[in-house]
Amino acid sequence: MNPYLCAMNFKNDLLLRAAKGEDIERYPVWLMRQAGRILPEYREIRNSLSGFKELVETPELAAEVTIQPVDLLDVDAAIIFSDILVIPEAMGLEYQMIEKKGPHFEKTIKGESDLEKYAQTDFDVEDRLGYVTEAIKITTKELDGRVPLIGFAGAPWTIFCYMVEGSGSKTFSKSRKLLYTNPTLAHELLNRITDVTIRYLKAQIKAGANLVQVFDSWAGILGTEQYQEFGLKYINKIVKSIDSVPVTVFSKGAYGSLPSIASLNCNTIGLDWNMNINHVRDIVGENKTLQGNLDPCALYASHEEIEKMTKNMLNSFKSKRHIVNLGHGVYPDIDPERVKTFIKTVKNYEI
Ligand code: CP3
Repeated sequence: MNPYLCAMNFKNDLLLRAAKGEDIERYPVWLMRQAGRILPEYREIRNSLSGFKELVETPELAAEVTIQPVDLLDVDAAIIFSDILVIPEAMGLEYQMIEKKGPHFEKTIKGESDLEKYAQTDFDVEDRLGYVTEAIKITTKELDGRVPLIGFAGAPWTIFCYMVEGSGSKTFSKSRKLLYTNPTLAHELLNRITDVTIRYLKAQIKAGANLVQVFDSWAGILGTEQYQEFGLKYINKIVKSIDSVPVTVFSKGAYGSLPSIASLNCNTIGLDWNMNINHVRDIVGENKTLQGNLDPCALYASHEEIEKMTKNMLNSFKSKRHIVNLGHGVYPDIDPERVKTFIKTVKNYEI
């Protein structure tokens, strides 16, 4: 058991109770990508720095922007301000975050000879990612039990995509090509990412993360058989290695793989907005909590419409095993007042 979880007296532990399937008095709510992106208070701190990476690598400031949505939006959880791309960087592949374009890697993995230098595993996670664990320690102390803190990592398949492609992509065809042309290399790379990710998540938990989420943003670009072999096989290794805190798996777009995802050793399954909650419940059963899944674009609608759509979603829940969220990260130009309407609607809803 995570010592923090035992010692911590939460003022609000709805998220953890919902994840574990325990009784809750109302549904917990938080938003993927709530830290950063939408808040002017975030922009202010971000603009005073050289860039995104400086913020990620400065623990005091990362802790501050992690707590902003708890103070300003009144969400039921904090998620540590960082990025999934700190893992490839720790393994030897440096990235740049280019304004309005996204991440860019100068080097990519093309063949076996790249692994030694750019897919390293033989290092101490605290040495290279100590800025994340430090940010978690500061955040935990400052939150003082107000709400739980979520730690996270990218799933091996999604990290693989960035390491092979070097940036975002519509098709990730270089990454998918490698699965056909050199599956041995693909598995070797996925194994290495998995190994580092397990050590990284354990370090986050030791530092104070109360729940961890694995983001597989590009799960949906693989067919079900390939996702089983190159995606879920490695997520399974990760979830099996963590038993001290609840685990959430968010495999975006992987509708066809839900029966396999349901058999993973995780507490919560994240759903995107294409997934029908009742259909998913039929597939998954009552042993897992479902997280999601309002379309992030719904928050462009009027306040009245947002309230109506949120209530419709809540009305469709047939049990207490739900954590309310969007079906993907909140978009950068969403009005924070509309986010507040979404959150208030969930909080005022009687189960
Ligand atoms: O949820 C949170 O608020 C915690 C922080 C967080 C960030 N990235 C901060 C961030 C989390 C959980 C992530 C996860 C992440 N990063 C994913 C998986 C989730 C998803 O949305 O699918 C992915 C694929 C990335 C990679 C990444 N990071 C991209 C493609 C980009 C550029 C475009 C974008 O999404 O904003 C980033 C940059 C990034 N990561 C920003 C933030 C706040 C914006 C940077 C800025 O301030 O300019």
